[in-house]
Amino acid sequence: MELAVVGGGHVGLVTAACLAELGHRVRVQDVDGGRVERLSAGELPFHEPGLKELTVRGHRAGRLSFHTDAEVALKRATAAFLCVPTPNNGGGRVDVSSLMAATRAVARYAPPDCLVVNRSTAPMGTARLIASVVCEQRGAPLPVAVNPEFLAEGTAVRDFLAPDRLVVGVWEEAHAQVLRRIYKPILRRDLPPHLVRDLGEVPTGDVPFVVTSPPTAELIKYAANAFLAVRVSFINEIARIAEELGGDVYEVAQGIGLDHRIGPHFLHAGIGWGGSCFPKDIVALEGMARTRGLEARILRAANEVNAEQRRWVARKLRTHLGTLAGRRVALLGLAYKPGTDDLRDAPSVEIATELARLSVRLQAYDPMVKDLPAELEGVVEMSSDPLDAARGADAVVIVTEWAEFAQLDLAELRSVMSVPLVLDGRNLLDPVAARAAGLTYVGVGRPAFVDIPEGRWDTTSADGPGGDL
Ligand code: UDX
Repeated sequence: MELAVVGGGHVGLVTAACLAELGHRVRVQDVDGGRVERLSAGELPFHEPGLKELTVRGHRAGRLSFHTDAEVALKRATAAFLCVPTPNNGGGRVDVSSLMAATRAVARYAPPDCLVVNRSTAPMGTARLIASVVCEQRGAPLPVAVNPEFLAEGTAVRDFLAPDRLVVGVWEEAHAQVLRRIYKPILRRDLPPHLVRDLGEVPTGDVPFVVTSPPTAELIKYAANAFLAVRVSFINEIARIAEELGGDVYEVAQGIGLDHRIGPHFLHAGIGWGGSCFPKDIVALEGMARTRGLEARILRAANEVNAEQRRWVARKLRTHLGTLAGRRVALLGLAYKPGTDDLRDAPSVEIATELARLSVRLQAYDPMVKDLPAELEGVVEMSSDPLDAARGADAVVIVTEWAEFAQLDLAELRSVMSVPLVLDGRNLLDPVAARAAGLTYVGVGRPAFVDIPEGRWDTTSADGPGGDL
């Protein structure tokens, strides 16, 4: 099918490259001429595993092309996917100006019956607004659908090709059928063999195709992100309780995650969530609720817990080092999560800024982040490897759980540090191995020492630990 994607960002490019890989003819339109040129030359503006290969392959095969000219991109499209940024403009209000500009371009150039598919995260009622802007601009309607993306950075290609579900919001069932046709190989899990090989293990059976109303589809997207963020804040709150009262959050997560009603995912305690979606979307949903006088208390609390969690590093440094001024601290990892070079709303930025304010000298290493954002220029000095960053440090902080940090030679790490303090903000290292290497190891929500000597009490006794704790 002939498809158009408006917006060559993360969501747009993954959508376009994957749809081209499925055999569709996809034209991507972006207002940034430089980006269009670089994409046509096979250069991606960000890192996303597997995406470059798909982009280059699609482009070479003539199934994927990039344009600044909206007319060229849209004039033959059976469906046009809107994948443009919807940032917050303060006070929890969502800025849909790029989305409206994209809508007007589609209204102007798309052929009759082209399905306008919004994939940008936008408030309930936006599909209705898109429909009315189309009518106003074109003098005639076009069908509109909402098809939220659930792509996580670092696994976006896999998330697209092997999703847990596809959600479609439409006013007419026939419009859902267009999307069903576009996504057919994904829905049937009938992908070309080379993709199946690249994806490795994927679930079997048809992908659930959820057809609902446009506002419900819009809310599903916000609710999914908010729920995941709440889950992480929940386990971080349990971590805080464990730190004060006893218990190991890592084992608590395993213990509750085995309950099928809870499940094991998104229960990894750490120094808080970040990235381009969770922080923005949770604030936006809370803001939307407020416009109707509703207080979204759980969303607000999740945010507050997250803000508090980002102060964990400074708090622990003070506990273990006392005065911080003049101390040298090494930050291992800056990206908001491994597998990406993205620093948008990364805990690292806030942590580094706070430590610099306390006159801490900061050295950092990240395998992928090479260019510092303006707010970290002059605040953090970059090193070429983790040991180099740790040399002479009074503390090492694991900020991002890059796999390579789990492979560090801990004895060597200890030998280059001035004070052997490791704050493991992602509970990545094995505490026993770290302590055996002579490091003072502090994890999030993990006991500072093993506080139950063997044989201290009889675990088979129904009385439990007794009164001596
Ligand atoms: C998220 C959603 O997963 C995705 O569906 C949506 O489309 C965009 O937002 P992303 O921001 O790429 O994707 O990252 P994700 O892997 O979901 O992690 C979000 C944040 O939560 C990261 O900062 C991560 O470090 C943190 N996190 C996640 C935890 O601290 N603990 C966990 O157990 C899981």
